[in-house]
Amino acid sequence: MCTEDSYMVKQSIAIKSSFIHFLNETNMVFIPKGILWVEDGKVKALAPEDELILQLPKNIKIQDYTGKLVLPGFVDGHVHAVQTQAIASYGKQLLDWLETYTFPLEQRFEDPSFALPAIQFFFNQLLKNGTTTAAIFPSKHVDATAILFKEALRLNMRIVAGKTSMDRNAPEGLCDTTSMSFQENEALIEEFTQKGRLNYALTPRFAITSTDEQLSALSKIKKNRPNIAVQTHLSENIDEIETTKKLFPSSKNYLDIYDSKGFLGKGSLMAHAIYLEEQEWERLAETQTSIVHCPTSNLFLGSGLFNMKKCRDYNIPLALGSDVGGGLSFSMLKTAAEAYKIAALQNIEFTARNAFYLLTLGGAKALNQDAYIGNFEVGKEADFVVLDTGSTELMQKRLSNTDDIDEILFVLMMQGDERNIHSVYLKGKEANV
Ligand code: GUN
Ligand code: FE
Repeated sequence: MCTEDSYMVKQSIAIKSSFIHFLNETNMVFIPKGILWVEDGKVKALAPEDELILQLPKNIKIQDYTGKLVLPGFVDGHVHAVQTQAIASYGKQLLDWLETYTFPLEQRFEDPSFALPAIQFFFNQLLKNGTTTAAIFPSKHVDATAILFKEALRLNMRIVAGKTSMDRNAPEGLCDTTSMSFQENEALIEEFTQKGRLNYALTPRFAITSTDEQLSALSKIKKNRPNIAVQTHLSENIDEIETTKKLFPSSKNYLDIYDSKGFLGKGSLMAHAIYLEEQEWERLAETQTSIVHCPTSNLFLGSGLFNMKKCRDYNIPLALGSDVGGGLSFSMLKTAAEAYKIAALQNIEFTARNAFYLLTLGGAKALNQDAYIGNFEVGKEADFVVLDTGSTELMQKRLSNTDDIDEILFVLMMQGDERNIHSVYLKGKEANV
């Protein structure tokens, strides 16, 4: 039984390892022999071992990860919780892919007994890959969305999510009426936004599957609750853009459909953004709306090559997204490797530092969660990933002749996958994956 005294004792743990985190985009901190001191799920201190060891409480548990590399948990800026079983479905571009593989699968989430194990599997895959925060699209179903939030709460994950809204150009079973969409979003917001580390995002799938009326209903919610985020898809595929322009003939451009509803701003997430017009880049920059680059998806669906240089030049917040099931892997390491190749095809620089910034602090900023996560600043939530850089013989061989941290990170980025994830911690507690 807990006495009052033992109840008051703060839960502490010290992690001994090598550490990397970012203070900002250009300032990476590398501590080869350090200690991360976590108290009540938050960072109490991170410092070189010889500086911190004497300050630790006497009986603190020390977890020794010498030889490993500890980073803040990865951020996946765009992923579908209801498409795991559509991953790697052959040979279609976006619109046919949605119709042939995705919509039929998403309809099955109407049944909670199908949804629950599928969503549990999904979260397990995120954690196995070192992803501790994600912006997630569930299906349109309230029960499945509630299951998603409850699972995130049980696991103690920081997520951004909200039921996917659609009311046209999709099977009847996936379409809401305008009033349903309004009421169901309101009810979910009421139930889940003040809980744990849950953040609600209005989630109109994309302009093709929402009428102007539905977008207006969501716009009303956003106006009443300016802190609620919006996530959607933007300018991913040529046929999609053509269809969108036909459906909204009076809009200046694709982005303007969302802009006219008040959906842009800090923490709003636009996935893909491949074929932007100059005015759209300008408007994203002006409103500091975030882009989520989803490289494995863009290559797999033959969508196109994202222009990271332009995004940088405009200083638009950026995250990387796995976009499973259009994307091919839950691994943010693999996602970063494909981002490198897309940049290389356009002669754009994308270093390992660029990549690991996006996977940690950059992603946290894009999701407007950097007050809580993204690096090891004192007081932030202690979500972190313990990486094993020698998880394969090939990686061991490749890294055997270097101790240059940039080279190690680059090999990890280009060759890494879930085998490199030794363990994952959520608020200072090891996740059971
Ligand atoms: N655009 C609208 N819906 C989707 C989706 O589910 N995946 C991708 N990649 N693009 C979309
Ligand atoms: Fe997507």
